[in-house]
Amino acid sequence: MKIAILGFGTIGSGVEQIVNEIKSKDLMDCEVVKILDLPKNKDKSNLIVCDIKEISEDDSIDLVVETMGGIHPAYEFIMECLHHKKHVVTANKAVVAAHMTDFLQAAKEYEVEFRFEASTGGGIPWLASVQKARRVDEISSFYGIFNGTTNYILDSMNLKNEEFDVALKNAQELGYAEANPSADIDGYDVQNKVTISAALAFDAKIDMNEFPVFSMASITHKDIEYLKNHHQMIKYIGQAIQSNHQYEAFVMPMVFDEHSLEANIPSNFNIITLNGNTIGELKFYGQGAGKLPTANAIVQDILDIKNNMYYGSVSLDNELVYSDTLLQERYLIRTNSIINSACIDHIENLGANFYITTKAITTKEFKELSRTVLEKDEKAMIAKYM
Ligand code: HSE
Repeated sequence: MKIAILGFGTIGSGVEQIVNEIKSKDLMDCEVVKILDLPKNKDKSNLIVCDIKEISEDDSIDLVVETMGGIHPAYEFIMECLHHKKHVVTANKAVVAAHMTDFLQAAKEYEVEFRFEASTGGGIPWLASVQKARRVDEISSFYGIFNGTTNYILDSMNLKNEEFDVALKNAQELGYAEANPSADIDGYDVQNKVTISAALAFDAKIDMNEFPVFSMASITHKDIEYLKNHHQMIKYIGQAIQSNHQYEAFVMPMVFDEHSLEANIPSNFNIITLNGNTIGELKFYGQGAGKLPTANAIVQDILDIKNNMYYGSVSLDNELVYSDTLLQERYLIRTNSIINSACIDHIENLGANFYITTKAITTKEFKELSRTVLEKDEKAMIAKYM
């Protein structure tokens, strides 16, 4: 199988290394033969070409790996390769979350495969496992740590007493963070991953702009210390739940008991849990970001295509309506402002800060409360209790 890679950054170079150099027995007849990148990067590899047509119009290439990131021109390049009857494998969650339907339709029309395991959960075989679970079960919910960068930051702040900015810089140097790390810390990355996971878990295309997304950048050392004193830990979570043709989803910091698995996930690792009607609770753990773990997930997709392996077809025909009154949850808010609300259960005063715990309230009530809080204190930390 002849393979081309679009983008020779951290993940693309990892794919080339696994396929051409590390080369397991199963990869003996696979070879990366061309890599699309900018002219300034030509000296990085003698496989580099600078025009997509050198790949899309090359009949000897069977499969294209897209690791450029971002929506444009990734969308156009993926479509062009599918139209030229090449299988496409991508790690690009932004383009998959936005255009999954177009890609799946084009792949069907041109009788090729479009796979995206590496887009969600890094090296964890999460999407394939969701598809396998789905062959037997209705999946009612999933939640987890979907972002390696934010987990690395929280872990470093907790264990090494590192400041937020230092931990983020280290995550960037280790190749975990997105080109613009706001995508990690402000939640857009997890928003995409929840949207992709919901498509496979619920057979539904949910609108990623409907559900609440809160940044984790407001979490401070003091918040972590406060929670430690309460035998709890804060993690950055994506979550989705469906019931009776309705769904709720969140991306936000969430508070876990100190003994839970989630509270103890180190470094860049992810953990994702699904709930199915016969399998019950299933948890998946592994490296959620980084060069070789993510490249590994891409290579698994390549081998599945080569060996005609399927874990179930993707259908997005379940119409789920967003509701903000399905769930009743408790929230934790740290703010320097005095807040009056019937939703509040109790308040602890620590120096200049108030730690407010709410009663179990609907998401609709929570959205109103958080709006009031953020108008008074834009640096307030807002989290949900699990
Ligand atoms: N920036 C992402 C993360 C990369 O840290 O999880 C993997 O999707």
